[in-house]
Amino acid sequence: PRERGRRTRYLYLFQGFWCQPAEIQAITFLQNHFEAKDSDVVVATIPKSGTTWLKGLTFAIANRNKFSPSSKNHPLILSNPHHLVPFFEYTVYGSHHDQLEEEEAPPDPRLFGTHLPFHAMSSSIKTSGCKIIYICRNPFDTFVSSWIFIDKIKPKSLPSLTLEEAFDMYCKGIIGFGPSWDHMLRYWNESKERPNKVLFLKYEDLKEDTNNHLKRIAQFLGCPFSLEEEERGEIESIIKLCSFKNMKELEVNKTGTFGRNFENKYLFRKAEIGDWVNHLSPSMVERLSKIIDEKFAGSGLSFKASP
Ligand code: A3P
Repeated sequence: PRERGRRTRYLYLFQGFWCQPAEIQAITFLQNHFEAKDSDVVVATIPKSGTTWLKGLTFAIANRNKFSPSSKNHPLILSNPHHLVPFFEYTVYGSHHDQLEEEEAPPDPRLFGTHLPFHAMSSSIKTSGCKIIYICRNPFDTFVSSWIFIDKIKPKSLPSLTLEEAFDMYCKGIIGFGPSWDHMLRYWNESKERPNKVLFLKYEDLKEDTNNHLKRIAQFLGCPFSLEEEERGEIESIIKLCSFKNMKELEVNKTGTFGRNFENKYLFRKAEIGDWVNHLSPSMVERLSKIIDEKFAGSGLSFKASP
């Protein structure tokens, strides 16, 4: 089925999730051709839940022996994280392919990003030893962040989607790579069944205790921080390098572009927890709370900063 918010681009229901036609092509190619290596790392996220941040942190942690996090020439100062950790569906197999900086095989560990639901990944990602780091965020903030972002990057010829229209679609599961609850629950369940395969993170927790989460990520990737690294302030340097304040102010993120569609600056808005209170009406909060209670019942998955 095809669904169109009266004023947005078409989304298609494909393999149980909503996406755009250009993405379908890339996803099919990924499913048929991508061969994961045991050393690969996939940063998987639902859009607007901290993808840019987690890509930056993962790149900095995995490559800290190659690039000192305190270096003035660190790749994360010169490039946007989406360049360094390319999306399967946009860059590696998608229409932004020309954004890849080098054509030769990337060095190990290869880092990739994706918004794909777990079930839609290529089978070698699921069966190989490759690791997946997943992040999501409370659905109220994720929705608000998405609505504002989509409005900024949509073609100028299309009028804006009202908050009410976008919210109604979101509640029906109609959002890129949604339904969002199915996306989160599947990765959540995988992380419970295979904790060495999937590391499940939440934006709110990452913000609250970034230091401890960096240790968890490094441990999960098989490159834990040594005592000596900790004493030298390596973790703090990575936190600073990837902080919202730092990234937002970098020249590459103020003026650069990602693909042909949007400017990097739109990736950095407020980075606050609970901003939904400034946008959603009491009846919206009630409707989404009910959906979340139903969908996540019995799963053990809950979110801070939800009503
Ligand atoms: P807001 O719109 O609430 O400000 P994604 O990277 O998945 O597109 O997520 C975007 C959200 O993450 C935006 O949230 C953005 O401001 C926030 N963000 C971007 N970079 C960040 C960083 N380095 N640290 C924390 N949050 C960040």
